[in-house]
Amino acid sequence: MAILALCFFFFCLLNAFSCAIAANDCDACLHQSNATYFRSASPISSGACGYGYLAKSLYEGYTAAGIPTLFKDGVGCGTCFHVRCKDKELCRRRGTKVVLTDKHGSDFGTDLVLSDRAFISMAYKDKARDILDRRNIDIEYKRIPCEYTNQNLSIRIEASSKKPDSLAVAFLYQGGKTEIGAVSVFDQFGRSRTMVRIYGPVWDMSPVPEGPLSFRLLVPLGFDGSMVNSKKDLPADWKVGEIYDLGVQMNGITDYRDGCGTC
Ligand SMILES: *[C@@H]1O[C@H](CO)[C@@H](O)[C@H](O)[C@H]1NC(C)=O
Ligand SMILES: *[C@@H]1O[C@H](CO)[C@@H](O)[C@H](O)[C@H]1NC(C)=O
Repeated sequence: MAILALCFFFFCLLNAFSCAIAANDCDACLHQSNATYFRSASPISSGACGYGYLAKSLYEGYTAAGIPTLFKDGVGCGTCFHVRCKDKELCRRRGTKVVLTDKHGSDFGTDLVLSDRAFISMAYKDKARDILDRRNIDIEYKRIPCEYTNQNLSIRIEASSKKPDSLAVAFLYQGGKTEIGAVSVFDQFGRSRTMVRIYGPVWDMSPVPEGPLSFRLLVPLGFDGSMVNSKKDLPADWKVGEIYDLGVQMNGITDYRDGCGTC
């Protein structure tokens, strides 16, 4: 009976989550906008997603700050976009791919602020100077799956973690085109506890179960949910600041079209 009730609760959670996302999100759409760039890497590295020093190396420095509808209160952290500059004189058609690491207000009049590296990469080789001088260019962009061929889904132990009181982890290298809807942690006896998202990619729990821990992520996929189970445990002797590989890749793709009639 308890198990049945739990399953029911679980499904409600999942469905409510995917419906909420489908209803307010048009991820399938191609958007027309403008983009500019950060003149120094610092605004992005101290970005709202809290990746800290890692932000500079995520996606080899192809990073971006997005307006609130892309940032989605932090749920958009780590999502990827294909951005194409529409100026045919300056830019190659293939555009660039970036990962969201920060948010920005609408004060720039642009949906995306790119790292200078990503901004320049849209231009022909001999036009880097010209695109930088332009500062603000017409673009079109679309959400795409993130690809991490050389990295598994991983967690970084955040500074607020302290045994046995609390464990805060940032999820890194989140592949695919989906979101993390809920996180459960299992101890070595199979007892589970849930984590709570505190901001961006960071989830925490209190207190912390002893011993090695495994993780289960719920991700919305269309109107169903899917689970991603870690294949490598977080060792019992985890340390703040360390990154631990969960031994699994995230590569689901949520189909948002149901809630997105018109682009
Ligand atoms: C967008 O970019 C175009 C072309 O560079 C420019 O003419 C226009 O003023 C920009 N729009 C905004 C809102 O900044
Ligand atoms: C990802 O995890 C698998 C085990 O699940 C492992 O064999 C593989 O080496 C890991 N990949 C990387 C890049 O660490």
